[in-house]
Amino acid sequence: MSEKKAAGGLQGIVAGQSAISTVGVGGIGLNYRGYDINDLAYKCSFEEVTYLLLKGHLPNQQQLNELKTLIQQKRQIPCKLKQILETLPKESHPMDIMRTVASIVGILEPETKSGQEYEISIRLISLFGPALLYWYHYSNTGIKINENTGKDSIAENFLKLYHLKSEIDPLVIKTFDVSLILYAEHDFAASTFAARVTVSTLSDFYSGITTAIGTLRGPLHGGANEAAMQYLEPLRSIPQADQFLNSRYQSKQLIMGFGHRVYKMEDPRSPIIKDFSLQLSKTANGDPTLLAVSQHIEKRMIEEKKIYPNLDFYSASAYKQCGVPTPMFTAIFVISRMTGWGGHIIEQRSNNKLMRPVSEYTGPAKKQFVPIEMRNKANL
Ligand code: CMC
Repeated sequence: MSEKKAAGGLQGIVAGQSAISTVGVGGIGLNYRGYDINDLAYKCSFEEVTYLLLKGHLPNQQQLNELKTLIQQKRQIPCKLKQILETLPKESHPMDIMRTVASIVGILEPETKSGQEYEISIRLISLFGPALLYWYHYSNTGIKINENTGKDSIAENFLKLYHLKSEIDPLVIKTFDVSLILYAEHDFAASTFAARVTVSTLSDFYSGITTAIGTLRGPLHGGANEAAMQYLEPLRSIPQADQFLNSRYQSKQLIMGFGHRVYKMEDPRSPIIKDFSLQLSKTANGDPTLLAVSQHIEKRMIEEKKIYPNLDFYSASAYKQCGVPTPMFTAIFVISRMTGWGGHIIEQRSNNKLMRPVSEYTGPAKKQFVPIEMRNKANL
């Protein structure tokens, strides 16, 4: 067996085949099942992209209508899940809630036979937002929300349930919807790869998803949108932004929301979400200072470090202007990436082989065994 030398972080290693998306092929570009991310973001809904990623093709009108009806049904929160959510502390991190929801649904509605992947994916995509917001409102104010907001899209349902309003600004809904499209799929990103490893052992669908949620959470991956907002929030002027950047440069700390393993130039998703974040900044509820600071940081990072913003950087200001609290940012990423994870689990299972790489051993040479009574005398 020929073995390729290990690269740190598996950088540049082709770890399998996939027909779902192209990430940075030739250094640029992102396509889902052959469709350019710009077309999908500006001309499609998240529901169409969900269908595309899970079924392999865009839906026709009837298929889309059926999917929307299914989503409406599948957003109902089971009573037992509500009871559990009511016991969870308000200090819990939303990512812990998401991981727990996936796990509890895996117990209440287990995967019992083959061919259930599409239905379970739609169940989780539809339920994650309502369940998170049920916990959020109950734990903070004792209100038990009604998760059914009729035929609303995933985006509109989330925003209505969070804000407890029956009308949401269409630009806010569109921005949120576009963010879901942009976050939906990204090839063998760490969380997707983790899900594929888990199901390659013939484990169940929900175990693949809980693995993925745990992997997404870290700030080098999905947690970067929350981490970006945490440093952006207190910066209310350009001098403050300069002071922040200079001190990070000096201490050689990472600037979250910048850089990417694959894209070494611009992340193709970044200008799209920036466009919507800028549009929001010009509205009555927008935050032009946040955008001015963000653009200044972007300009300096490109000019001085040649490091470009990734999707997480302008998602932070976009979500903030949608009125969503910072700790929920990565949980929203879960709702979206559930589509990509579902597509990858289906693909992995269609041609499964246990994922079990080898390491390059760097430990001690073979040693003579030392009995326990001799160990304090021996040079171990
Ligand atoms: N801030 C400051 N310096 C950076 C950054 C950053 N955000 N990203 C990369 N660099 C530097 C890095 O320190 C290294 O410098 P040097 O060569 O002097 O040691 C150089 O750029 C190359 O970086 P790298 O660590 O070899 O690149 P990588 O491919 O291993 O890392 C990354 C990719 C995403 C982990 C990294 O860019 C990073 O930590 N970014 C911040 C976290 C972040 O925004 N993550 C979201 C990624 S995109 C969405 C997603 O996948 O969820």
